[in-house]
Amino acid sequence: MELRGATALVTGTNRGIGRHFAIELLRRGAKVYATARRPELVEIPGAELLRLDITDQASVDAAAAVATDVDVLINNAAFTAGGSLVAGDLDAIRQVMDSNYYGTLAMIRAFAPILARNGGGAILNVLSAAAWTTVDGNTAYAAAKSAEWGLTNGVRIELAGQGTLVAALVPGLVATETLKDFVRNAGLVIPDDAMIEPADLVRLALDGLEAGEVEILDRLGADAKAALAGPPRAFDLAAVAGS
Ligand SMILES: NC(=O)c1ccc[n+]([C@@H]2O[C@H](COP(=O)([O-])OP(=O)(O)OC[C@H]3O[C@@H](n4cnc5c(N)ncnc54)[C@H](OP(=O)(O)O)[C@@H]3O)[C@@H](O)[C@H]2O)c1
Repeated sequence: MELRGATALVTGTNRGIGRHFAIELLRRGAKVYATARRPELVEIPGAELLRLDITDQASVDAAAAVATDVDVLINNAAFTAGGSLVAGDLDAIRQVMDSNYYGTLAMIRAFAPILARNGGGAILNVLSAAAWTTVDGNTAYAAAKSAEWGLTNGVRIELAGQGTLVAALVPGLVATETLKDFVRNAGLVIPDDAMIEPADLVRLALDGLEAGEVEILDRLGADAKAALAGPPRAFDLAAVAGS
């Protein structure tokens, strides 16, 4: 998938990984719809700003009505603080599933016909190594990412006929403020070299997309995939912190 001259829509661009996606796509010569729940917080010169809450169907429909020239959809936005499945707050558990699974699905359902009309294009879903392990203290998030992985695989088959590449980005620890806060609140210190910088992750992701890869993994993502062959285990943040 050639990104120069493509038209991309990225969700959640006011901070974190999404902001870097929008910047790098522009650098590679794509037109970019940089979307956010609060577009007034987005500062990305050259991007077209759109208000978008992926868990609000009217908002998704409004974005699809405007961004009819999209041929690359980057599903990055997510609420990540799901907490614990058994003892945690059920509203947070629903919110994490709502954004990671139903929000991503709503975006795909709204944009699949647009991608078809524009020649097929590509969808990149931002998953997590947590989808393949789990994370003690954020098991609800891991479960939602597992569901999003299943969704990604299903949609890939369903959209193959229209020529849409459906890819998964599976990172481990990405040095965003959200991850750093989570680690700090867990009382841990993660060495810098255990995390990937968002800008480096985004370059890896877009190189993979341009090469037509369906699963794009960083080092910890690859470790998590290899671990699937063994008994279930949790992603061991404390071990990473101790390494
Ligand atoms: N950081 C990591 O270590 C890591 C690792 C693996 C995977 N990931 C995945 O990478 C993606 C981005 O993570 P991040 O660390 O960059 O997160 P982040 O800094 O917390 O940013 C999350 C973004 O998603 C937006 N968002 C949340 N709910 C939304 C909704 N309903 N509609 C539209 N936008 C919404 C947020 O907007 P608001 O500002 O309005 O809340 C924000 O822009 C997520 O899918 C996450 O699961 C992250």
